[in-house]
Amino acid sequence: MLKVINISKSFPGVKALDAVSIEFKKNEIHALLGENGAGKSTLIKVICGIHSPETGELKINGNKIIPKSYRDAIDMSISYVSQELRIIPNKTVAENVMFDKLEKYRKLGFINWPQVNKKAMEYMEEVGLNITPSANVDELTVAQKQLIEIARALALDSKILILDEPTTSISETSIEQLFKILKVFKDKGSTIIYVTHKLEEVFKICDRVSVLRDGKLVGTKPLEEVEKDSLIEMMVGRKLKLTSYGKLNIKDETALEVKNLFRANKAYDINFKLQKGEILGFYGLVGAGRTEAAKLIVGLDSKDKGQIIIDGKEVRIKNLFESLHKHKLGYISENRKEEGLILDKDIRTNICITLWQKLASKILKFINDKQELSISKHWVKALDIKISSLYQKVLNLSGGNQQKVSLAKWLAADCDILIIDEPTVGVDVGAKEAIHQIIFDLADKENKSVIVISSDMNEIIKLSSRILVFRDKKIVGEIEDEL
Ligand SMILES: Nc1ncnc2c1ncn2[C@@H]1O[C@H](COP(=O)(O)OP(=O)(O)OP(=O)(O)O)[C@@H](O)[C@H]1O
Ligand SMILES: [Mg+2]
Repeated sequence: MLKVINISKSFPGVKALDAVSIEFKKNEIHALLGENGAGKSTLIKVICGIHSPETGELKINGNKIIPKSYRDAIDMSISYVSQELRIIPNKTVAENVMFDKLEKYRKLGFINWPQVNKKAMEYMEEVGLNITPSANVDELTVAQKQLIEIARALALDSKILILDEPTTSISETSIEQLFKILKVFKDKGSTIIYVTHKLEEVFKICDRVSVLRDGKLVGTKPLEEVEKDSLIEMMVGRKLKLTSYGKLNIKDETALEVKNLFRANKAYDINFKLQKGEILGFYGLVGAGRTEAAKLIVGLDSKDKGQIIIDGKEVRIKNLFESLHKHKLGYISENRKEEGLILDKDIRTNICITLWQKLASKILKFINDKQELSISKHWVKALDIKISSLYQKVLNLSGGNQQKVSLAKWLAADCDILIIDEPTVGVDVGAKEAIHQIIFDLADKENKSVIVISSDMNEIIKLSSRILVFRDKKIVGEIEDEL
């Protein structure tokens, strides 16, 4: 169906794709795997006409194609779900879903909106997006935005459907629903290219897998022929050591206490204590209220009732700035695609941004260049962030490496209490291990208190000494680690 032949693509300082050839067949879901920065998104963007390759060619059913823009690719029956959400702000949901097809609904210069809304509804229903088509997208959650992105690609009904990490922020139910749709597409004779870091997904729905490493193709295999371990080895180029951690030495001192935290529709009577040196897990499904609770605690949202007590004293935190600088309480947003980073600034600036206040006011009255450089170097190494220079714009990093920069920024802030929302979405297996180790060490070696919010049960169990289970904006259970 689709052949990519000998494709190479370079960016300043990096060869993102190095003579890659893959054949994608009809009636298959083909997984494209590799570490952060391996070249997956770049390959997809070449196929979609967004990047033009330096060498190589694309063929559909034996015919050479040269898409010069995404518009061109759409005309060749290629559509894609982008890793970065392409939501067009201040527009309706329907307009976003139908964006690539709007012209079809124009007659005598006017777009027939009732018809657009009606059609959009069908695709929204398909992905289980239950909102009015005329709603403004700005009010929506990340999960809803990701579903819009998926619906937008489905609306094109293409023969080649490419999905770049489509499930990073949607719920289990939505993921199941997506898998059903993909199977229908496949059975209709389409080709699906599926990029993910979640290996369970690969084994669940994919037929064959291609692995990229440092821009080169490592190999293509049918999934029956590979095991999880060998797949990981293909990706990282070595055997990955999976660590399990011992028991934390939790102090008998409370770092943070939350009493009767309440906000209508967001949090109902949240009560818990977090000790020094403890890692507390917030487990629940997407939408269970974990993020809402966190935002109320750090002042990103205002509560109706309740108390936040830090080191025994009640505090009133007005915003995240106060939370960080007055109380050394940090919150790493799950919504790193939108909130985490200043994309057109360099890596160094992004990592050190939370430090500026400290460095500037307390020590030197200006930003200490050397210090900044050494701090950013430290975190780039610790998290193995793939960059060509510290002065590179974050915008030009691969999606997973952007995630790592946003984590680094908060780790560099040296908080006493850190709330980390979905610490490892979008990062590769090796980096996931590294991030887990860093979180564990924060509690174990530095006596910090950490709350880990995650929908990944394995991650929560591995890290936490205690787990609070959230459902319907309430804490519905508590699980102690028995180890
Ligand atoms: N527009 C760009 N300008 C400069 N460098 C870029 C650009 N886009 C990608 N790169 C670089 O190309 C390499 C491959 O990036 P790519 O986004 O394809 O990785 P990926 O496999 O999709 O990773 P991830 O899993 O993190 O999404 C990286 O080193 C990245 O920094
Ligand atoms: Mg990518």
